[in-house]
Amino acid sequence: MSKQQPHEFISPVWRDGIFRGRVVFVTGGAGDICSAQTRALVYLGADAFIIGRNVEKTEAAAIDIAKVRKGARVMGIGNVDVRNFETLQKAADRCVAELGSIDFVIAGAAGNFISTIAGLSPKAFKSVMDIDTIGTFNTIKATIDHLSKSAAAHISPNAENSPPGGRFIAVSATFHYTGVPLQSHASAAKAGVDSLVSSVALEYGPRGVMANVIAPGPIEGTEGMDRLARAGFGEIDTKDGKGQQIPPSVRGGSPTIPSGRWGTVRDIADATVYLFSAAADNVNGHVLVVDGGAWRRQGGFLCVGQNPAMQYPNFLLSGAGSGQKKPASKI
Ligand code: COA
Repeated sequence: MSKQQPHEFISPVWRDGIFRGRVVFVTGGAGDICSAQTRALVYLGADAFIIGRNVEKTEAAAIDIAKVRKGARVMGIGNVDVRNFETLQKAADRCVAELGSIDFVIAGAAGNFISTIAGLSPKAFKSVMDIDTIGTFNTIKATIDHLSKSAAAHISPNAENSPPGGRFIAVSATFHYTGVPLQSHASAAKAGVDSLVSSVALEYGPRGVMANVIAPGPIEGTEGMDRLARAGFGEIDTKDGKGQQIPPSVRGGSPTIPSGRWGTVRDIADATVYLFSAAADNVNGHVLVVDGGAWRRQGGFLCVGQNPAMQYPNFLLSGAGSGQKKPASKI
């Protein structure tokens, strides 16, 4: 379900039109998180070019996102896999030809599933590395010259208060901060993503490009989190050790997360608006974790997630999960 009402994808603190005249290029733009990020930017004045593997899903997302602002130009191009540099390069060039520039980039395309190392074939591990890490590298290569050009053309801060240009965000994760069982592939891949972004910050900061990472925690209502939750990640154990009901924290019913709640796509969209806005003009090479403090507790798990049937390490020692059936692809 797409989040169309402004309060669902953006908080009411940003000024209208702060991205007017700017173009954002988004990989994985039809996904739950990236479409909300794009929607927020378009709502605040940007045009957008989103790419994805699935043609119908990507085109439909673009049409849907364009509805948030009259006159918005949003293009959705399917059949573009971030693992294929040539098609990605063509998409970036097409974005510039049709929308005029690439001022912001969101590298959001990701692949993930739940599997132990025992259940992971070398090809499966490589698939996730290829989508997340190599895909982010390919996205950087295909867009960085356009971003440099944009940064040079829109020096910020400036007296006119016009929107900045030349900003890059990779959507990462927090798994690799502590290690998380059944996520060896995604953890390794996202560690690579974070590292790549620090190199962009160092090498292209002098050209005015600001490159940062957003690391979402568990985000409610997303395909990725639905899958993790089915395996027990983030499930809420509402009973204490004696079987007594735990009182809900002031902000919600998630005792495993310090802030008391799962994240929302709006949390991530707000972080994106901040990093692309003039307010983040000197923020470069930063990892902005948006998870309510969840990662600080994820290392001390007793279960994989909170699912008692997946108690750590019994679940692993039993051999369960080592030969998981691959679910049908949603792509
Ligand atoms: N457990 C173990 N291995 C799995 C798996 C699972 N749940 N799902 C896929 N694989 C393995 C496949 O079996 C295959 O390896 P093999 O040929 O050695 O058996 C390998 O991964 C590649 O799978 P394939 O379907 O050919 O790759 P793909 O490029 O079409 O798909 C994936 C990429 C694997 C990431 C797939 O899960 C996907 O497309 N996911 C949808 C997008 C997504 O994950 N979004 C996440 C948002 S957080």
